Amino acid sequence: MSSKVSPVGTGRKGNGRVSGCGIDSAILDRVLARHEQSPSAIVAIMQDVQAEVNYLPEDALRYVAEKLSLPVSKVFRLATFYRAFSLEPRGAHLIDVCTGTACHVRGAVKIVDALERELGIKAGETDGEMEFTLETVNCLGACALGPVVVVDEAYHGQMTGARVVHLVNKLRKNQKGAEE
Ligand code: FES
Repeated sequence: MSSKVSPVGTGRKGNGRVSGCGIDSAILDRVLARHEQSPSAIVAIMQDVQAEVNYLPEDALRYVAEKLSLPVSKVFRLATFYRAFSLEPRGAHLIDVCTGTACHVRGAVKIVDALERELGIKAGETDGEMEFTLETVNCLGACALGPVVVVDEAYHGQMTGARVVHLVNKLRKNQKGAEE
């Protein structure tokens, strides 16, 4: 039987939603088992947890640290060190706009502006429907394609404000289609 994840040390494990994270511990146990509960696989485990729940809830990190007998501080340090990890809930779609030098001179700012207008959020934010998270990043290593936008890990080069808005609308349409 599965339970909701509780903070380590509270003695309230299996007592439902404790701090708002409410993640089913079975999900975390499954990820841990996939990696044979190996402390050396901590980064891969965190990647899998994030893939499952879209971010790394604090309680989930504490749970994983306890199961692997790792210091909680080490797990949190990793979670904040790697940019790919998020401690905050993200939208269903993650949009990264490169604002590195090469992309900047080719109009990255206009792309950020267009997305902020279209999504009604600022860079670094997630919309109220948890549909889109907009972030800016520094050089994605594909400068020749600039300006570059990465949507859900897919690279899109030579972007413009109009093209990126078209992309967002396509995602919305697909999402709607999947819900119908
Ligand atoms: S500056 Fe954008 S990919 Fe390098």
